[in-house]
Amino acid sequence: MTALQNMTTAAILVVALLSHVTVAHVYSQCELANDLKNRGMPGSIPDWVCLIFAESSYNTAAEGHLNSDGSVDYGLFQNCVVTFCSPSHRSTAGIGVDRAMLGGGCNVNCYSLLDDDISDDVACVKIIYAQSGGFTAWNGWKSSCQNGLPNLSGC
Ligand SMILES: *[C@@H]1O[C@H](CO)[C@@H](O)[C@H](O)[C@H]1NC(C)=O
Repeated sequence: MTALQNMTTAAILVVALLSHVTVAHVYSQCELANDLKNRGMPGSIPDWVCLIFAESSYNTAAEGHLNSDGSVDYGLFQNCVVTFCSPSHRSTAGIGVDRAMLGGGCNVNCYSLLDDDISDDVACVKIIYAQSGGFTAWNGWKSSCQNGLPNLSGC
């Protein structure tokens, strides 16, 4: 490769890495609590903060938890794919999301739940909360949040 080609390759790599970094965000506990307070969440904020730590460790880009039904959960709240978002359309470029491919009860693309804008996650979570029995819709809440909640009074 020529020096110019090397520089071009390096520049493309840096742009790709930066794009990736900017789509993810890991909240601190108080930052999350204060953000959620402004979003009109149903239920108590300590319950949400506990649930989100159990599900995603406050990381908006968390993608994991293969469920027994074969679905995978996405994002801060680890919303369940099969019923609430459309899982099958990550953008072909590998970066970003094809927002045209919507689906599930939230009419959203699962991959759009991985970025640092949690507005769509919150809208979906409100639907899940209303339709699926509140906090009990999340295994992380059931396993980690019924015997004590985080103390957020310092936030
Ligand atoms: C919660 O934290 C505050 C300080 O941030 C403390 O004063 C208070 O005692 C704590 N409450 C409980 C129940 O631990």
